Amino acid sequence: RTVYVNGEYLPETEAKVSIFDRAFLMADGVYEVTSVLGGKLIDFDGHLARLERSLTELDMPKPKAFDELLEIHRKLVELNGIDEGMVYLQVTRGAPGDRDFAFPDPETCEATLVLFTQNKPGLAANPVAKTGIKVISIEDIRWGRRDIKTVQLLYPSMGKMMAKKAGCDDAWLVEDGFVTEGTSNNAYIVKDGTIITRNLGTDILHGITRAAVLRFAREAQMKVEERPFTIAEAQGADEAFYTSASAFVMPVVEIDGESIGTGKPGDVATRLREIYLEESR
Ligand code: PDD
Repeated sequence: RTVYVNGEYLPETEAKVSIFDRAFLMADGVYEVTSVLGGKLIDFDGHLARLERSLTELDMPKPKAFDELLEIHRKLVELNGIDEGMVYLQVTRGAPGDRDFAFPDPETCEATLVLFTQNKPGLAANPVAKTGIKVISIEDIRWGRRDIKTVQLLYPSMGKMMAKKAGCDDAWLVEDGFVTEGTSNNAYIVKDGTIITRNLGTDILHGITRAAVLRFAREAQMKVEERPFTIAEAQGADEAFYTSASAFVMPVVEIDGESIGTGKPGDVATRLREIYLEESR
């Protein structure tokens, strides 16, 4: 696989980043994941806009190649022959010589930019979307700026492991009694035809897939309510699902051992997945 590091396209075995890089020492980095379908990048503009916002919020300098990001994405997709898969991008504050809690002077420390691809043949036809997935709920103990897409992913990883241990696929995070989002996705329920998902704020990531799916839902005359919901409300809903760049629209058929609706992927989630895939091709 060919990867990109700070201006160079290299075999993955030759790509190097300093051990002093602040992402390695401090989780001082932000990232984006853009899906590829039919060799085409999905929602690239949205991911780029969110990356810019993450950088601004953290006062992190833009990498030198910021204006070439589309070109770099396209070149990696081509070099690696990706038909279905994704491009991962990470920007960090760079590698000052010493470990220090204070941010380094951007005049002397340059941002690190890394991109790589992951090949995922069959992503769109994922059979799991036909059966749906099971989630558990866990307390949301992440930091308070979840709207910034940082590489601090330890708690989401732990959540995923807790779900696996419980024989489930993922965890939905709960704060003050209300669902915030999934470990790596935005959470939704459907009741009497209305799609309900938490409103945007600093407590969730502003999903690029969320924005697209809500737009398609409204265009299809579906009703959308952006507000918090509880696990009990979700368990009593007709449907549940989540969205993310890597899974698109994924039906959720069980929450904390309770079947949702018929226990099978619901019509709204199934239709939204179809619309999303159609519109993205
Ligand atoms: N995760 N919420 C969280 C906490 C996420 O990590 C993600 C994305 C989302 C969905 O955002 P989007 O639709 O823009 O992908 C919501 C990515 C895919 C990941 O970490 O792999």
